[in-house]
Amino acid sequence: MVVIAIAGGATRVGLHIIKAILNAKKHKVILLSRSNQLDVAKLEIDIRIVDYGSTQELKRALEGVHTVISCISPYGTDSTSAELNLLQGAKEAGVVRFVPSEWAADCHDIVDLYSQKEIVWQAVQSSGLEYTRFINGLWMNVWGPGCIKDEKEALAGYEGPAFAIDLRAGTATFPGDGSQKVVLTTIQDIGRFVAASLDLPKWQPESRIVGDRLSFNDVAHLVKEICGLDLRITHVPSEELLATLEDEHSASERFYYQLLLSIAIGRLDFESTLNDMFPDIRPLSVAEYLKRHWTST
Ligand SMILES: NC(=O)c1ccc[n+]([C@@H]2O[C@H](COP(=O)([O-])OP(=O)(O)OC[C@H]3O[C@@H](n4cnc5c(N)ncnc54)[C@H](OP(=O)(O)O)[C@@H]3O)[C@@H](O)[C@H]2O)c1
Repeated sequence: MVVIAIAGGATRVGLHIIKAILNAKKHKVILLSRSNQLDVAKLEIDIRIVDYGSTQELKRALEGVHTVISCISPYGTDSTSAELNLLQGAKEAGVVRFVPSEWAADCHDIVDLYSQKEIVWQAVQSSGLEYTRFINGLWMNVWGPGCIKDEKEALAGYEGPAFAIDLRAGTATFPGDGSQKVVLTTIQDIGRFVAASLDLPKWQPESRIVGDRLSFNDVAHLVKEICGLDLRITHVPSEELLATLEDEHSASERFYYQLLLSIAIGRLDFESTLNDMFPDIRPLSVAEYLKRHWTST
């Protein structure tokens, strides 16, 4: 039994990692948060309130902790310094293992919002701590908004708009010709793989999780077959995405186009490194997700 600290674990991916660790009943888990998180308090775990501006405070909060898993949001203006201080606090407290807040794919050079992740990733690699970054592709839960069954489970806390395929509206925007494969994983399955990885004797620098791997064209066929819905698809070639990105856009629009571009050039397509290590974890496929949340049977 070791102590695992989840930074920013009151929501979404962090919360599901906490739940999966508790479910496995092998390790003690604590939450690092900037405030008292009442919903998480119900899980009866220790919550350590921290000021990410103070390395000393983070060091104190991490005394006795073996592994730090960061799920800090990339949106805060001070998120990067928070994660760098967390890493420094972890080093000073004698933490053994560190996971930076990645939870997508390496498109740091394309997506503005992710460029800050690169700074943390470089620091993690030269920290002297054992580390891994979890790469899981697109969260399948981005197709949950407006679903007809078990929406809470479908979203797993995801609050953003549907990404690329809006099943409620029956519309889709496919990067390129829609044939490029993309990895999709539910937040719940990420939690289960992360919890299982805690028991690996040695971590690879990168831990890749594949929930399902298929093209957007394949998804459109599944939507037709399973939900009986013909998506109205707009194809946007990579050149058009690049040209669009030359114009002025809001940060969220830029994020959207840059992520589509990353998909178009295959950055969210990869082989798993973790799935075969944990054959007992059978991740949800897109077909199962559609049946479970977008059909009434
Ligand atoms: N692959 C995908 O499709 C996908 C989709 C969305 C997000 N992600 C990734 O998942 C990770 C979590 O992102 P998210 O948007 O889902 O996060 P989130 O749930 O909005 O936030 C996670 C936690 O971050 C903490 N936080 C927020 N701002 C902070 C700051 N400035 N300093 C320190 N802590 C802060 C908050 O914890 P407290 O308030 O308790 O301190 C919050 O509960 C990110 O790495 C993100 O890039 C991946």
